[in-house]
Amino acid sequence: MKPREGLYYLLTLPSVYRLFRTIVRGEACRIYISEYVRPVPGEKVLDIGCGPGDILENLPDVDYLGFDINPKYVEAAQKRFGRRGRFFCGDVGLTAIDQEAATFDLVLATGVLHHLDDERAFSLFNLARRALKPGARLVTYDGCFVAGQSKLARFVVSRDRGQYVRESAAYAKLAAQVFPQVRSFVRHDLLRIPYTHVILQCGTVGSFSSGCTLPRRSETQLPSATDGL
Ligand SMILES: C[S@@+](CC[C@H](N)C(=O)[O-])C[C@H]1O[C@@H](n2cnc3c(N)ncnc32)[C@H](O)[C@@H]1O
Repeated sequence: MKPREGLYYLLTLPSVYRLFRTIVRGEACRIYISEYVRPVPGEKVLDIGCGPGDILENLPDVDYLGFDINPKYVEAAQKRFGRRGRFFCGDVGLTAIDQEAATFDLVLATGVLHHLDDERAFSLFNLARRALKPGARLVTYDGCFVAGQSKLARFVVSRDRGQYVRESAAYAKLAAQVFPQVRSFVRHDLLRIPYTHVILQCGTVGSFSSGCTLPRRSETQLPSATDGL
């Protein structure tokens, strides 16, 4: 698909992207982290499509590895957060983390799946599954379409830079091809503008059995993805 131009191009520049995020995001990142990611200090974290690495502002002290396809983002991340993590440039469809397979407690893909066609999205879930220790989890966060969404939110989501925005259930269905446990939460209140997100928590047996209280205001939960799809 042809890359979008204009504002969409400007957003590939780290400084413009950061400004846009600051204006639009409000409390989104804090809520996403505290209610859905729930990182634990010392955990080993893989951040797929890490952008300029700004999520580190909201993470405790963790052992962090991030990668992104955009070299300008990776350079900016390295410059700002090089002391807090490792960064490299890579395409999720081509990246293997063989040396560190099964060593991560947490994999994040924040705002990435809606940039990926189904084949690459499938690669992302497979990469995450290979990266995670048994019982660890992947958390994703993306704009989505869903029944009952306001027309304005639906319109704004449809104008997203990502060209593969899906129905919320379609994200969960893709995840369920790789992860036996998929929980799906739809939120309409995370940004300062009308917008709808779906957050997935994906894992294997034991990923959600202890210390995992349900986030507030969850709308959909699929304790076992295969039950609900
Ligand atoms: C909306 S941004 C999110 C960035 C960051 N995770 C954040 O929350 O600020 C989506 C990111 O996915 C990256 N991306 C898109 N396609 C990718 C691919 N095939 N492999 C790796 N990263 C990709 C983009 O370069 C961009 O940084």
